[in-house]
Amino acid sequence: MKIIKLLILLLIAQTTMAQINVRKEFEFAAKQYEGMLASHPDLNQFPQSTRPDGTPENQPSDWWCSGFFGGSLWYIYEFTKDPKWKEAADRWTMAVEKEKLNTSTHDLGFMLYCPFGNGYRLTRNEKYKSIMLTGAQSLATRFDPKVGLIKSWEVFQKTYKYPVIIDNMMNLEFLFWAARETGDKDFYSICTTHADNTMKYHFRPDNSSYHVVCYGPNGEVLARKTHQGAADESAWARGQSWGLYGYTVMFRETKDQKYLNQAQKIATFILNNPNLPSDKIPYWDYSKPGEVRDASSAAIMASALLELSQYVNLQDKKIYISAARTVLESLSGPAYRAKSGENNHFILMHSTGHKPGNSEVDVPLVYADYYYLEALLRYQKTQQNL
Ligand code: GLY
Repeated sequence: MKIIKLLILLLIAQTTMAQINVRKEFEFAAKQYEGMLASHPDLNQFPQSTRPDGTPENQPSDWWCSGFFGGSLWYIYEFTKDPKWKEAADRWTMAVEKEKLNTSTHDLGFMLYCPFGNGYRLTRNEKYKSIMLTGAQSLATRFDPKVGLIKSWEVFQKTYKYPVIIDNMMNLEFLFWAARETGDKDFYSICTTHADNTMKYHFRPDNSSYHVVCYGPNGEVLARKTHQGAADESAWARGQSWGLYGYTVMFRETKDQKYLNQAQKIATFILNNPNLPSDKIPYWDYSKPGEVRDASSAAIMASALLELSQYVNLQDKKIYISAARTVLESLSGPAYRAKSGENNHFILMHSTGHKPGNSEVDVPLVYADYYYLEALLRYQKTQQNL
């Protein structure tokens, strides 16, 4: 048995041997983001993407993506340990502070936990902690116990008053953190209740997920829809990655096997999908092979798979690490990684934000960069732990 384990580990080591040079990728990221910092003197203009005319698209702090730039700066600081990145990360993190009182969005996990959570993990700055605790309370106001889910948007298609999107699984990590810090069990039970109901109502028999599920006042399902996918019944690529990442976090935080099973079922849907290209960068929707890609969904998937690989048997571990490695090789190659000084200083090209809305199609996206950097850090740890 020991010999078989050793052989599998050797095989993983062989197939994962450093084709990805994490140091080189971070050096490139640092160079691009030096340019980003220089071209963004205004802390109310958060880097987001590129407009159709090629100029930079920025967004205010209440946009769901405002935390990713600060979060990426923390990842660059984590890798380089250079204080200049800590200073920049702090500035762009604090620029989001006022959103701690924002109760009109479910995206506070993205907006606050990506910058402040990473900042707190790396510095133990108490100021970050107190801002996050206020933010977690704001997010928790969106949970209605009668429905048993955190409400994503106020209204959908002018009809539905309690829409919940699969993306919302990503905000639970923030509430788990708050549960640990405060000892308040309500935060914890919001996470498990939301995740259980999402598991029950959001997934199809093939383990793909709907984008939007609309609930009535007592938690009854009124409709299953899409907003950013190709069709109500199709599998929107980024949604599948959000689900994979979300249930992996659920297992990390609870150690409940049902969440691990769910994460693995989603991984199987993605990795065995006949429409997943060989470079493992999904088309924007799994029903739209040949159309534009979504590098952001690939980066999220790679990061999630690298974490998931820690919780599974050796055979699955090998599959997940190998798939994540392929994604990272693709993203680090010339097809997806920008040339130095180009791409409005973003790292990655070819993401798709909202194809049906003809918005952010085949462009850089700030969150693609964030999850790419996170995945590179996780990949490096995976290599060290082999
Ligand atoms: N949460 C919005 C998106 O993934 O586009």
